[in-house]
Amino acid sequence: MTRTPLVAGNWKMNGSLALVRELAGALRDAKPEGVEVALCPPYPYLPALAEALSGSGLALGAQNLADRADGALTGEVSAEMLLEFGCRFAIVGHSERRELYGEDDDQVASKFLRAREAGLTPILCVGETLRQREAEETDQVVVRQLMAVVEAAGVEALERAVLAYEPVWAIGTGLTATPEQAQAVHAGLRAAVADRDADIAGRLRILYGGSVKADNAAPLFAQPDIDGGLIGGASLKAEEFIAICRAAG
Ligand code: 13P
Repeated sequence: MTRTPLVAGNWKMNGSLALVRELAGALRDAKPEGVEVALCPPYPYLPALAEALSGSGLALGAQNLADRADGALTGEVSAEMLLEFGCRFAIVGHSERRELYGEDDDQVASKFLRAREAGLTPILCVGETLRQREAEETDQVVVRQLMAVVEAAGVEALERAVLAYEPVWAIGTGLTATPEQAQAVHAGLRAAVADRDADIAGRLRILYGGSVKADNAAPLFAQPDIDGGLIGGASLKAEEFIAICRAAG
């Protein structure tokens, strides 16, 4: 089963118009081959980035979306609005949303459903804390997070979706899961999907995220069940991000 690798940059609450211009220019010149590349900036930068990337084949994504279509929801942004501004992807269930903004599995499932319903491809994040890893609960935690969505949306919904394994203890810490640790979790996630539908499991892209850098990306991406990366800090540096894209291509 060949899966086109995907590298998505999650800027989180970082960046500027200057960074939009710098990164878009550098990525256009570099044209990484054999890999799909997406950038997920903060909402206000979407129009400028869409314009700077137009015709480049690089995709845009959002870091979050509302769990409802419209209405009196101050501060929220709908899937339809994101589509209007050229997004193809939307990250849902990032651990920062779960931990800092109290999003639970049900809310993550609602956002996943909303994204798909509108025509966006959700990038569903799952991951365990350090305490859960030390208690050997990793597989149980990530499969529960995944299955909360599969129960709500049906396994077929994973046909147009991406999964991202992001161990919470590896995010922004400089600690990376070893390729073997990450591969073991990815294989477990794929097996859990295969229990419902082996073909869908075979086609599902599972990204790794958590302190991926240019110098540790290649051995991670060489693992059979790792289909690219979700990159935080290193996606803000053009050279570093391009090197990571190349490692996946
Ligand atoms: P870092 O690459 O900065 O560890 O962040 C990973 C992440 O959370 C991407 O969504």
